[in-house]
Amino acid sequence: MFYENVKESADFILEKISEIPETAIILGSGLGGLVDAMEDKTIVPYADIPNFPRSSVAGHAGNFVVGKIGGKAIIAMQGRFHFYEGFSARELCYPLYVMKLLGVKNLIVTNAAGGINKDFKPGDLMIIDNYINFIRVNPLIGEYDERFGPRFPDMSEPYSSEICEKAVKAAEKLGIDYKRGVYALFNGPCYESAAEIRAFSILGADAVGMSTIPETICGNFLGMKVFGVSCITNMATGIATVKHSHEEVVRVANEASENLCAWMKELLSNW
Ligand code: HPA
Repeated sequence: MFYENVKESADFILEKISEIPETAIILGSGLGGLVDAMEDKTIVPYADIPNFPRSSVAGHAGNFVVGKIGGKAIIAMQGRFHFYEGFSARELCYPLYVMKLLGVKNLIVTNAAGGINKDFKPGDLMIIDNYINFIRVNPLIGEYDERFGPRFPDMSEPYSSEICEKAVKAAEKLGIDYKRGVYALFNGPCYESAAEIRAFSILGADAVGMSTIPETICGNFLGMKVFGVSCITNMATGIATVKHSHEEVVRVANEASENLCAWMKELLSNW
């Protein structure tokens, strides 16, 4: 039944688009500006797609935007689903299953994150080298269908080293200052306590956020090459000297979004 539901969602989108996108981009809080750089756009609201989950967070629109960047056909998710909205990790990955049936092969995940590494500052862009799933919830738990991928997927390279290398070259060409690090998932919706951040730091996390890891795990399961970028919008609790606010997170992400767009455009043109 799951497969049939996903197929119905994918067929609905396929009827509306003229080119199959090979690459998908999930846009994090405040990073939706990439959509403005897309050409020949077709917008498919999530609300129109049969069997699709519904999002609720301010700052997250709910659309697939299919179009071109750097001459490549891409599908952008303007608005993602989060664990803290009450979705199960499996439900929030539903769009990825749909993308798989659309023919998507590469997945770019972006997010707003708190900086734990003291060498980082708000506005920095961090290539995600690896992840720590602190919430221990896995999107692959539950019904299994071998048409989607292996039951026990390998996670030795959750983020494609090949795409990372290309991204490094693109950043160097554009003179974009980037960081690299480990992204840790905290379930939210409250921000972390200072003691939690100290613990995550000791365990090897460079940045913390409330998304991305379920999609990373699911993308790997589905056989996609995954690349991730965090926008460091604030320093994490206990490192920051001010209290967190979602408005500030979105403001800093909006500012950094211009650099991120230029970077992704360059990356996609040399894919
Ligand atoms: N913690 C968790 N998620 C976040 C943060 C943070 O400090 N900043 C942006 N998203």
